[in-house]
Amino acid sequence: MQLTPEEQAMLAGKEGKAKRKAMGLLVALGTIYGADRLIPITSAHLSGVSYKTIGEGGISFLEEMAEDGRVSVPTTLNPMGMDVERWREMGVDAHFAERQLHILSLYERMGVETNCTCTPYLLGNRPNVGDHVAWAESSALAFANSVLGARTNREGGPGALAAAIVGRTPNYGLHLDSNRRATHVVEVEQGIGKEEWSLVGHAVGRRLGSCIPYFRGLDNDVNGLKALAAAMAASGSVAMFMVEGVTPEQPVTLEGLPVVRISRQDIEATVQRLRAGDRPDLIAIGCPHLSESEMKELAAYLDGKCKKGGTEVWFCTSRGVWLRCPKERAVLERFGKVLCDTCVVVAPIEGLHRVTASDSAKAYAYLPGLCSQRALYGSQRELLEMIL
Ligand code: F3S
Repeated sequence: MQLTPEEQAMLAGKEGKAKRKAMGLLVALGTIYGADRLIPITSAHLSGVSYKTIGEGGISFLEEMAEDGRVSVPTTLNPMGMDVERWREMGVDAHFAERQLHILSLYERMGVETNCTCTPYLLGNRPNVGDHVAWAESSALAFANSVLGARTNREGGPGALAAAIVGRTPNYGLHLDSNRRATHVVEVEQGIGKEEWSLVGHAVGRRLGSCIPYFRGLDNDVNGLKALAAAMAASGSVAMFMVEGVTPEQPVTLEGLPVVRISRQDIEATVQRLRAGDRPDLIAIGCPHLSESEMKELAAYLDGKCKKGGTEVWFCTSRGVWLRCPKERAVLERFGKVLCDTCVVVAPIEGLHRVTASDSAKAYAYLPGLCSQRALYGSQRELLEMIL
């Protein structure tokens, strides 16, 4: 890989320990994947924030980087293990909270924006078409590649942090035109609504695995597309997809591409697979984090209704959306907790809950392994009807 004199100096440690370590990581990644050089990025989004997922090993790495490391591009953070203000109400213990706040302070010291969300593109971190970025968080990076037309690989937490510190990333994978071509055409049957796109994503990811599907039959609905991106990234490691009339890069030709159809029957079969028999003791809505319009839709539906039973309900959103929706919050708080900074997957719910229901096929994929839950899928309406 060709390095500029400035990059060579960083690699030699002339600009401090963190830059040396970050450059070492980027050069190793670039060498493995055959990058020719490093390219400048306009932003980064980091995963590896919850104490539950990174543990003490992750803290040691961050402590080392935070000694003299500072990010050189706007950098945002993924959800962490708790709401910074309401962790006690979530059942999080004091030791976890102390370690979690320590992690947050390390990122803060490095200059990272510490509003923890997996939908940074709904707030300030929204790249332009053609921008090279280094994003971790599979749902967000798929959204960035596919809906915004930015360019990022499927970064891990350390790689994204290294890129944020250096302000560059190795030029390979989805940064290159040649790797951003549709591999399949997916035709979605008419009448499958945006609230079912999470199921569409789950079905496509399972069927096709890692690929670049070109969708027909979807439109430009941000909430539907973020759910689709999240589900497909979880079930099939899909880092980029295209939607007819939506994705800035449209294929020149679809000739010769295999065609896959997603029918009403496929959706029903997927729903059957994701259901479980138990009643949930936790209902989680907001994976990916709820947008402002979703908060409004939920509040409009629940306003004037009463909650029955004691099932715990979490509505997860970003702090930015939370601040913008005081009226909606007041309605939702009568049915559950409107939590910021966290989500059901990265919070330490194991031991506190046993059966968790969600309207997200992504959450469904992670809840058994990462959270020791019996997972249950239901549409948002079905989940809310359980408590009405
Ligand atoms: Fe976001 Fe957590 Fe889902 S990070 S995409 S809410 S698993």
